Amino acid sequence: MPIAPTQEIVSRAFDQGYGVAAINVVNDLSMAAVLAAAEELAAPLIVQTSVKTVRSIGAEVLYAMWRAMAAQVAVPVALHLDHCPDRAVIATCLRLGWNSVLFDGSKLSVEENQRQCREVVEEARPYGALVEGEIEPFARIEDTGEAGITPPELSLAAAVDFIRDTGVDVFAPAIGNAHGMYRATPTLDNQRVTDIVAATGIPVALHGGTGMSAEQFSDLISRGCAKVNISTALKIALMSAGQAFMNDHPGAFDPPSQFAVQHAAVKEMAANHIRMFGSDGKAGRAS
Ligand code: 13P
Repeated sequence: MPIAPTQEIVSRAFDQGYGVAAINVVNDLSMAAVLAAAEELAAPLIVQTSVKTVRSIGAEVLYAMWRAMAAQVAVPVALHLDHCPDRAVIATCLRLGWNSVLFDGSKLSVEENQRQCREVVEEARPYGALVEGEIEPFARIEDTGEAGITPPELSLAAAVDFIRDTGVDVFAPAIGNAHGMYRATPTLDNQRVTDIVAATGIPVALHGGTGMSAEQFSDLISRGCAKVNISTALKIALMSAGQAFMNDHPGAFDPPSQFAVQHAAVKEMAANHIRMFGSDGKAGRAS
């Protein structure tokens, strides 16, 4: 069975110093395309679903699709629920078989986030599922002004206390990163990653991957970012390929041909990131 625990995939990357691509998919086409890229490059992969995607497709249908597609690849792959503040959605996904969840309590007080995150860790354990946690919300680039991204407000001690108290397996720190396409290469607090890893020994999830440079990825991965999130780049590849197809074939209305072009574009985007993160050729299971 190619579906592997997220913990196994991330720990292996953390120990060996590469990053696993964690890519948000939005439908069957994009799920198939990222899995095809991982298979072709013999890379482990984390497939992520937003709460919006879970709600729009339906958790049961989405999970059935995942099982059927993942069964056809030979590389270790895991299904992760991204940024979820809704405990009912977390419960549903864990019960169905998602391999990991990010409990997003970043809009709550740190105390309430911490309390609920402890409960999520307890809830996830019997399923063998990994839990990621965060305390500072990530900005969306569209919402940031000319001043850019606000640097982390909470102290390192608050992050370390949250990690130790909740028992999360992976932590997602705000280091000047944001979701969406950066207007310019972001200035990141790389040292924060080193400090968190040194203090806790757990891997870090790098959010807001779209638009970071290859140098930023390799530096952050070497500091302990073993899970690297990519979402906007998939949306751009998927939608621009569809638009380009329609521009090139006006009036064609030929879904199979258009979908093939979109699949190729998403697969290429995923492959480029997998190579940048150094996870190509790392599909072997942990012994
Ligand atoms: P981007 O949309 O910037 O790639 O960020 C992805 C992410 O961090 C998902 O949680």
